[in-house]
Amino acid sequence: MAGPDADAKGNDRFNTEAMNWDQNPTVVQSGILARAAYLKRLPPSPELSTLSVLEIGCGTGLFSLSLAPLVHDLTAVDAAEGMISVLSSKLSSSDPIRSLSPPGVADAPVPGTSITNVLPVAALLTSPDDPRIQIDPLTRQPTTGRRFDLVISHLVLHHVADLPALFATVFACLKPGGHVMVTDFEDFGPEAERFHPAASMDGVERHGIKRGVMEAVLTQAGFEHVQVETAFELDKMVETMPGNRVMEHKMTFPFLICRSRRPVV
Ligand SMILES: C[S@@+](CC[C@H](N)C(=O)[O-])C[C@H]1O[C@@H](n2cnc3c(N)ncnc32)[C@H](O)[C@@H]1O
Repeated sequence: MAGPDADAKGNDRFNTEAMNWDQNPTVVQSGILARAAYLKRLPPSPELSTLSVLEIGCGTGLFSLSLAPLVHDLTAVDAAEGMISVLSSKLSSSDPIRSLSPPGVADAPVPGTSITNVLPVAALLTSPDDPRIQIDPLTRQPTTGRRFDLVISHLVLHHVADLPALFATVFACLKPGGHVMVTDFEDFGPEAERFHPAASMDGVERHGIKRGVMEAVLTQAGFEHVQVETAFELDKMVETMPGNRVMEHKMTFPFLICRSRRPVV
């Protein structure tokens, strides 16, 4: 496992939450819905199985490990060492890993040790040449100039302070013609703030992502064919009054999927 960045924002919170992360029903349900949304838009096999994927903000790998069997390899990056530690434990265990299947489809758990194409990396990426992602996940051998076919990220962008800087890095990490596909809840107005309980705002940089902002950030980073659309809606219990810790009010949060391509030349 590669070393973490001590100054990564929100790390304290996510290091603390890592052990119980997979028990969070919002995280699990949003991952199930996101997986279906990605698979609807990604190329089918056999093309899908040729892709080298970079995931930003993989957490404990709930989303990563559900996609890994479908792609060639997956480099799973998170700024919080605690999250990567949990993911690494899953991968070195013979216990079955819970997968995120679409609603109505039974899970098909596989042992962690049978997933051999995932490289967990604790890092806050700022360069495509960061040696921690210059490693072939299959052989674990160092490489140089490694670039990816696809960059994915789910439920992370609302924690990222500088979106233009992140997408400049994402752009540089892609091969020419490579794609980015990211999902997060939408900032649809002041009510979006209720996504997080008032006591859980550590590391929250914005209350969801805005369509226009995402279109502008991706375009300014140099991407083409920028598409931002509603991917799914998530029902979530929120505080009945902000700050009262009584999670008994159900709200529906739209999630955006943002897609674009690094130009071929
Ligand atoms: C809400 S969690 C989502 C985790 C995972 N994607 C999931 O769906 O379970 C957000 C994660 O993004 C990570 N994160 C935030 N900013 C990041 C960045 N710039 N680079 C890498 N990870 C980041 C945090 O450490 C945290 O684990």
